[in-house]
Amino acid sequence: MAKINADSYILVVGCGAIPVTPIILSDKTKIKIIAIDNDPKAVVLASRFVEKHHLQEKIEIACFDGVKYQAEDFDVIFVSYGVERKEELMKYLSENISNNSKIVCRVSRDFDNKKQNFYYLSNFFKIEDIIRTYSFGPMDSYLLTKKKIDD
Ligand SMILES: C[S@@+](CC[C@H](N)C(=O)[O-])C[C@H]1O[C@@H](n2cnc3c(N)ncnc32)[C@H](O)[C@@H]1O
Repeated sequence: MAKINADSYILVVGCGAIPVTPIILSDKTKIKIIAIDNDPKAVVLASRFVEKHHLQEKIEIACFDGVKYQAEDFDVIFVSYGVERKEELMKYLSENISNNSKIVCRVSRDFDNKKQNFYYLSNFFKIEDIIRTYSFGPMDSYLLTKKKIDD
């Protein structure tokens, strides 16, 4: 979906205690993945998980809030379902990513949609694609790019 290549620099926001998304991304792309979470307990558990499975060379876990993290160097940013203050985060990213960056914003239709809808995504980004999957329950992945003047 995001057309990742060997030179892509990838960030996962909201990796959780079991960093499934970084593990799958690292496995499929063979690229080192940077993964952040703003919950210190989740970061400790995720770091232990990474160490236990000898993935330190492949996945770097750090404790940061996505709303304050420097985002401009990344080519692709994955925003996990369940990330809090998602509207604030998406606004921040829309103002702080570089022109050619892509965002994959994952929305659990069971989990996130109870709290809010996601129409605001089109205020901040151009929606390039939406893919619906069912492997972890109904989940929509929005492929987003920076809005250009004529979008
Ligand atoms: C449902 S879990 C994650 C995902 C799952 N393990 C994966 O790999 O896709 C969402 C995580 O996002 C974290 N989170 C919530 N808001 C955040 C924010 N603003 N910045 C960084 N992490 C955040 C939570 O602490 C939680 O661990």
